[in-house]
Amino acid sequence: MKIFLETMGCQMNRLDSELVVSALRAAGHEMVDDSRQAQVVLFNTCSVRRQAENKVYSRLGAEAQRKAAGKQFFVGVLGCMAQREGADLMKKYPVDLVCAPGQLDALPRLIEQAAAGQAAMKLDPSRKEPRDRAADERLEQLDLGRDPAATPSPVQAYVRVSRGCDKFCSYCVVPFVRGGEISRHPANILDETRRLVDAGRSEITLLGQTVNSYRWRPAGEGAMTTFADLLALLSPIAGLRRLRFVTSHPIDFGDDILHAMRDLPNLCRYIHVPAQSGSDAMLRAMNRKYTRAQYDDLADRARAIVPGVVLAGDFIVGFPGETDADHAASQDLIRRSGYKNSFIFKYSPRPGTAAAKTLKDDVPTHVKRARNADLLAVQAEVSLTHHQSCIGQTVEVLVEGPSPRANKQPHRPAAGEVQLIGRTRGDHIVVFDGPPSLTHQYIDVTITGATALTLFAKKGI
Ligand code: 5AD
Ligand code: SF4
Repeated sequence: MKIFLETMGCQMNRLDSELVVSALRAAGHEMVDDSRQAQVVLFNTCSVRRQAENKVYSRLGAEAQRKAAGKQFFVGVLGCMAQREGADLMKKYPVDLVCAPGQLDALPRLIEQAAAGQAAMKLDPSRKEPRDRAADERLEQLDLGRDPAATPSPVQAYVRVSRGCDKFCSYCVVPFVRGGEISRHPANILDETRRLVDAGRSEITLLGQTVNSYRWRPAGEGAMTTFADLLALLSPIAGLRRLRFVTSHPIDFGDDILHAMRDLPNLCRYIHVPAQSGSDAMLRAMNRKYTRAQYDDLADRARAIVPGVVLAGDFIVGFPGETDADHAASQDLIRRSGYKNSFIFKYSPRPGTAAAKTLKDDVPTHVKRARNADLLAVQAEVSLTHHQSCIGQTVEVLVEGPSPRANKQPHRPAAGEVQLIGRTRGDHIVVFDGPPSLTHQYIDVTITGATALTLFAKKGI
């Protein structure tokens, strides 16, 4: 059948979609870019904020209209919203298929069922029920069975190290929709990474909801594999030029990982380690399990142990009870941490979470909006300072390709050249002139200018 798949949300969803596409192609289906040509329209969805879900509802509304107009096709919802809403999705919208993130291996079969006019829904067991080991194993096979040559980029690939989350931050729906945390067998991660690198994927990004809490215990005797051990296991793979990982939780960031970042030459010195707030009162209400002082200590240790380390963060503004003083503490934390960039979100109550159940969403929308804009402005200042400190340095970039939009530059590219975009090992975006043939190559550039979002450079030293 002709299948259209749209992916919303985080890198984990992008990886899930990639694996799903591999499995659907192997089952004889054809992927199409235009939903109007598809016999099956799939959405891989995100539940982390209300806004992400609204986008899906509006897509489903549009598909409902096409169905009402007599078009014959199936609609499927995959991922976090599938698990969160379950059968309700089929009641509210003309949805034919619902598949939770932990059941994606069953998708080819669910499509057959929907096509045969049967109910097609597979949800994960709730966290109260015992873990379904057989389902875990089937999901593991989906990762292991991927086609290493089918990644969206010919040079970059994601590899999952763990699934789910056990942290239960009070605002977050992830532990409910993605289930309990489970680390993959290190031998499987090594095998998958090797096959990807052999297929030319020289930049590997390890993924986990809290990637650095990875911990694998063998069933019988034998030593535990920590995240730092895993990094040491993967780093020597021949042809692996860059190893990255996202996203980290502050409480699991021991010095062993920082030492690995210092010592393993291909491990990128970039840490995305969300703080969420700079205020102890908010951190406690968010159930983040660390204090402001502990977060500051992590940033200090990172800078002391890993020269040139680049930090990035996430913040939530307008969490219940957040005062002006709490907000000021977040401003201060952005300044103190010197983040390269931060992702800033307005609090959005998620059904089923502790915060939604027990705390009133009492910060008015206009205050959330103002605090959001304020943190963005503080971060822009800090980003500019950070970027300006890079001017004059010669750095390696992995060229992603021609810039999708012309960035402000003092000159026009020479004949045969275009504006290219590349990423440094520290995840900085760099714009420079060069021939399009440099796409997917690693080259050295010298930084000549900076804005809050972008570095400008010229080729060579
Ligand atoms: N409201 C707003 N932002 C949220 N995040 C997670 N849950 C919520 C929520 N309910 C943010 C956090 C997290 C990022 C992926 O999304 O900052 O790090
Ligand atoms: Fe959500 Fe917290 Fe787990 Fe991150 S660590 S996925 S914010 S519960």
